[in-house]
Amino acid sequence: MADHKYIFYGTIIDTPNPLTLRIRQEHVCVVNNGKIEIIEASTNQNLDEYQGYVFIKLSKSQFICPGFIDLHCHAPQYRQVGSATEVPLLKWLQKFIFPNEARCSDTSYARDLYTKLVTRLLRNGTTTVQYFATIHLEATKILAEICQEKGQRAYIGKVCADQNSPDFYIETTDESVRNTEEFINYVHDMQKGRNIAGTNALIHPVITPRFIPTCSINLLSRLGQLAKKYDVHIQSHIAETSDQVAFVHCLYPDIGNGRDVAIFRETGLLTNKAVFAHGIYLADNEIDEMVTSGSAVASCPISNFLFSKGITAIEHLIGKGLTVGLGTDVGGAYSSNMLPVVRAAVFGHRTMDFVSFDRSNAILPIFPEHKDPVIDFKFAFYLATLGGAHSLNINSQIGSFEVGKQFDALLIDCNREDQAFDYWKDDEMDIIFEKWINAGDDRNITGIWVQGIKL
Ligand code: GUN
Ligand code: FE
Repeated sequence: MADHKYIFYGTIIDTPNPLTLRIRQEHVCVVNNGKIEIIEASTNQNLDEYQGYVFIKLSKSQFICPGFIDLHCHAPQYRQVGSATEVPLLKWLQKFIFPNEARCSDTSYARDLYTKLVTRLLRNGTTTVQYFATIHLEATKILAEICQEKGQRAYIGKVCADQNSPDFYIETTDESVRNTEEFINYVHDMQKGRNIAGTNALIHPVITPRFIPTCSINLLSRLGQLAKKYDVHIQSHIAETSDQVAFVHCLYPDIGNGRDVAIFRETGLLTNKAVFAHGIYLADNEIDEMVTSGSAVASCPISNFLFSKGITAIEHLIGKGLTVGLGTDVGGAYSSNMLPVVRAAVFGHRTMDFVSFDRSNAILPIFPEHKDPVIDFKFAFYLATLGGAHSLNINSQIGSFEVGKQFDALLIDCNREDQAFDYWKDDEMDIIFEKWINAGDDRNITGIWVQGIKL
């Protein structure tokens, strides 16, 4: 384990809450057995007393920060990332997504695609991902194995769909429930077999009804029972587009007035381990209900700009007490990288004020009153790290740097000849961090750790 004992000395940056960029300079961070043992200010840079540790002295241009948490990523959709951006959601599913996902019945195709994706996501600094796989049990197991082998923390679901799907990409209700249960047991066995003592399991099963239109009420209820039996995570899509909301209302007008939140509640899927993607078309009483249940929303602003004609009202949801994190929504979005998602969350928030501004009677000044933006780069970084950890109920384990937490971290170096990032020469680390978030990229990521292990 000697390789997994580290002492970092230098600048440590994280966001312990949405409004605070915590910059700890001249700090030591001791990592042992996956966890942060010590994190404190120190002027002693020699640290000779630590035998068997790898000592990493960060230069002035370097800092460590938490790895990104992507709360919503469709692994099989990596194939069409960057294409098919012009089509409304329901048509897009039929035309591009179902045929592409169906290809994962071929396990060698799935292995190749998933290997590429997990490699890319890690390279982007995404250390935890919540994945939708496909309806195929074998390919979903392969995704779990790839994440375990490559060392990525992953929450993985076999997609469930027993209706409103094409003949070549559908399962019976029984198959869906049986294979979901088998996948849960498979991952639980993996956890027992491969865990290093004292560390947490890397891979977790997630019950994954695709979205309400592709699931019968019988299927949803039986998945709700499985969620209770195994006390596992749940993921789905909620209130994403107006045509999806209308479709659900047509299908199930008598259950909870045909609304997503009520249907998930009625079928036992609105729990404190549930993360729902999007949550754009939510009524206030539905937000309150989600808060009471302890469920969370994964906002995916790039995908939402393209499909939903709007974005999650993050500030409003958080103001009402809902837990929110960020996701790429690969391949509804053209990026598998969380940095553009962080930037899009900021953009979306700025635009929201303007879009909701009534211009019909506008006399000068025609712009909305200037307010200090709430969702800035710090807030968005919080959502992409600790907010995601909160959503998965693992904020006591990851998302920021505290004694006792797992060390999931990125080493960022801003000393590149092709970037004008040299504010670090004047110790202006807040500016450096903002510049990395807004104008940096994966070339600045020079080290990646998950659970204290360097990848
Ligand atoms: N709703 C149902 N399936 C999907 C999907 O694959 N992506 C998105 N963005 N929404 C969905
Ligand atoms: Fe999605």
